[in-house]
Amino acid sequence: MSPFIPRPDLDVIDLLLGEHGCMLSLFRHIEMRLPNMSLDEIHAAGEALESLLMAHALEEDQLVFHALRVEQNGVKETLAAMAGEHNEQRRMLEELREQTEVVRARGQLGRLMELTREHFAVEERILFGLAKVVLDEDRRSELGQEYARRRGLSRAH
Ligand SMILES: [Fe+2]
Ligand SMILES: [Fe+2]
Repeated sequence: MSPFIPRPDLDVIDLLLGEHGCMLSLFRHIEMRLPNMSLDEIHAAGEALESLLMAHALEEDQLVFHALRVEQNGVKETLAAMAGEHNEQRRMLEELREQTEVVRARGQLGRLMELTREHFAVEERILFGLAKVVLDEDRRSELGQEYARRRGLSRAH
């Protein structure tokens, strides 16, 4: 590629926010189909969500939340709540995998998406804004490059 084309700015917060947007689209798609989905289809949807959500939570925890351990009113509590919800998402997805009854599996997948939607809203309202203040632009860009490298995005090396 031409060296005159500048490397895109990869702010890690914008990248994570974009993932929320993609996952919310997928939730809407699954929620519309959920009432008519078979057990196998629910399991397949759960597995797809699991790979997206767990990768997202990992990057969030390791790249961003880890850097936010600041003494500030309520921040510690919000970080602990978000980490707890990442564990709860993991637990719900594991339980869904074991679920053999379609009505229960449907309820479980629906609850997971509801919980995750609220979880995203808290991150967006509180932690992402804070990360933009605590981490300067260069640091967010470095972390964005690390995110890109982990995900295999082009021009990340
Ligand atoms: Fe999260
Ligand atoms: Fe998130």
